[in-house]
Amino acid sequence: MNRTPNILVTGALGQIGSELIRELVKKYGKNNVLASDIKKPFSQMNGVDFVQLDCLDSQAVQKTVDSHQINQIYHLAALLSAVAEANPQKAWKVNMDGLFNILESAREFNCSVFTPSSIGAFGPSTPPDQTPQDTIQRPTSIYGVTKVAGELLCDYYHKRFGTDTRGVRYPGIISNLTPPGGGTTDYAVDIYYEAVKKGHYTCFLKPDTNLDMMYMPDAISAAINLMEADPDKLFHRNAFNVTAMSFTPEEIKKSIQKYMPEFSMDYEVDPVRQAIADSWPNSMNDSAAKEEWGWNPGYNLDTMTRDMLTTLKKRL
Ligand code: NAD
Ligand code: SER
Repeated sequence: MNRTPNILVTGALGQIGSELIRELVKKYGKNNVLASDIKKPFSQMNGVDFVQLDCLDSQAVQKTVDSHQINQIYHLAALLSAVAEANPQKAWKVNMDGLFNILESAREFNCSVFTPSSIGAFGPSTPPDQTPQDTIQRPTSIYGVTKVAGELLCDYYHKRFGTDTRGVRYPGIISNLTPPGGGTTDYAVDIYYEAVKKGHYTCFLKPDTNLDMMYMPDAISAAINLMEADPDKLFHRNAFNVTAMSFTPEEIKKSIQKYMPEFSMDYEVDPVRQAIADSWPNSMNDSAAKEEWGWNPGYNLDTMTRDMLTTLKKRL
């Protein structure tokens, strides 16, 4: 986009938001970024402006966008897969009504909108290997149902009202600043914390469960690069497959053992999260994102493992 973005981030205290805020501030400056969440922050956010905002309150969303002259929204407020499955009614409200309120304000005040979809937007009838950009989407979790409906709603706002909506289908995101919010891929974050703290991890997914994953710096650059991409080059909009690696619990264990040979792991499978994981792709094809806006991840499993362990060993 040509104008300097004046950005609102919803769900800014979550796993992705807390790191996205830092990068947006680095790139555009503190005065151009407004963080928001339904929760209050524990501490001052390094001088970044914060408003407490429930996305289900349409008037509050509208007032915030209007009074801060927002022209770009990163809409991250949502319930993740395991939390959503425990309360499907709330998941529908937060993930759908919240998105609707954001899109309505975006339409009224001419904002561009980034909305993350997920590997959860696919289901058991989707081709599981090298899952194409355009394919069958019949998810069986409530999270997935809201993600597919959200993709369609974002495309509808673009086609019907010209709202500049963009999104990616994130895989599991691995990071070390803010803990994940209750997803099926959380094991791939927890494993590093437990490796450093206890040298042992009990995994809730089966040893051979293959899922796409990505390290947080790549997830952040995917969001910002897509929002900066030339709109004329975007054939797809909501939402692009993006991935950086695909591995099983056994493979991440072996990657950790390269740096910590004493690390051990056992399994106590959670049937709910296993069923969700089994319905998701083993690996996505992200060539559309590469072709249309130059998606190019920087981390693979081993470089991510080295960075996660080094950072956590210093901190914990
Ligand atoms: P998270 O659970 O860590 O954070 C979500 C934030 O939203 C929380 O801080 C929560 O307080 C806030 N929130 C919840 N209800 C709200 C409401 N009504 N109004 C305002 N804020 C509310 O989630 P995340 O991992 O940062 O995910 C952000 C987005 O990315 C979500 O759409 C998620 O589906 C998507 N995504 C995440 C991953 C991942 O692995 N983290 C993978 C794929 C897609
Ligand atoms: N990490 C997310 C989840 O497991 C994927 O969307 O819910």
